[in-house]
Amino acid sequence: MPGGEARADNILWPAALHTLAKHRIYERYLSKWMPIMIHSWKGNVTYAEGFAGPGVYTGGEPGSPVIALRSLVGDPLIRTKAHDVRFLFVEKEAPRADRLRTELAKAARPVALDALDRYGIDLAVRTGECDPTLLELLAAHNAWGRPMLVVLDTWGASVRLDLVRRIAQNPSSEVIITFEPQHFSRFATSPTEKHADTVFGDRHWREVAGQPPEEKAKWLVEKYREVLVDAGFPFVLTFELVNAGGQSLFLVFGTTHVRGLQKMKEAMWEVDPTRGVQYRDPADPNQQLLDIEPVPVTGPLERELAQYLRGQDDNTATVGDLRRFALYQTVYKESQVKPVLDRMIERGRAVGDGPAGQARLGGSVRLLSDSSQSTRGHE
Ligand SMILES: C[S@@+](CC[C@H](N)C(=O)[O-])C[C@H]1O[C@@H](n2cnc3c(N)ncnc32)[C@H](O)[C@@H]1O
Repeated sequence: MPGGEARADNILWPAALHTLAKHRIYERYLSKWMPIMIHSWKGNVTYAEGFAGPGVYTGGEPGSPVIALRSLVGDPLIRTKAHDVRFLFVEKEAPRADRLRTELAKAARPVALDALDRYGIDLAVRTGECDPTLLELLAAHNAWGRPMLVVLDTWGASVRLDLVRRIAQNPSSEVIITFEPQHFSRFATSPTEKHADTVFGDRHWREVAGQPPEEKAKWLVEKYREVLVDAGFPFVLTFELVNAGGQSLFLVFGTTHVRGLQKMKEAMWEVDPTRGVQYRDPADPNQQLLDIEPVPVTGPLERELAQYLRGQDDNTATVGDLRRFALYQTVYKESQVKPVLDRMIERGRAVGDGPAGQARLGGSVRLLSDSSQSTRGHE
């Protein structure tokens, strides 16, 4: 159980630092997602979790279902506009599901849980296996055909690809999946391992066995990203949250809309500085750890842009392409690209097609130096 031992009653456990950081990202993201959904879909949307947990940690910190419910009931600007917002939760362990109902009831006060429907909120907690209970619950609550955000927070072993694919086929869907590569890398040569084959949809992931040890995690995360794209999520963001002790958690966010990707990036970089937890961009060739801070370090982005430019004809790409590359393939936002290009140009590492060699938003940039020059001084 990452984050510590469950208490003797085996219902709650302490929150690991990266769990708390993950919750702050959810909170920021939901503070954007919920109003957009309420306004553009009149609230006819679903937030669902397949591995919901008990709704609270031993230190009293709220679990993700409580954070999600509060994002609506705690926001006076949108809570009166809810029409048919569904909050659907599946939890396998009955005592945890019971505790979750108690915690959700506290979050909904002064309204009783069973009176929430009068306020346009349809909330259900079902005890069962995520697969197939979640699909049944979504059908029973008429969620298909309308936008949904589905959180699949396993302890890292992810879920059957068919389940993810079914969600991807729904219009305006998003998933957040917790992924821990070590769950897979250690079974890559085991003929009896079946779960991982269902997560990746075939046996190709087993090629990880031939990767150097330091590349295995990155390779598996990239493989999983490709699998999600094939499953029907054209926009996938993967990033790693790393604890001071080096323990890490990968979050994989898939969305059918580019706007979802933009909002998730904003959420990632808006969270308050977090002590003891850092980000890592799986696409960074140097795998540098990044503090979570309002003005993020962009050394990895410079390396990633240089690598991208090296792969283009004449080492040249349009600024628009570079911005799209950053948005789709890295943890950075489009808006972070231009300042990095300006810095590369200032240092004679690249040249733009502006009058004095500057980068222009509608123009292009060429990489001059192909050395793997250190960017440390600028990190
Ligand atoms: C990582 S915790 C969820 C934490 C929660 N999302 C949060 O952030 O507060 C995973 C939960 O999934 C439950 N679980 C494990 N296997 C499950 C399964 N097959 N189906 C549904 N729930 C399961 C566990 O009992 C545990 O409560």
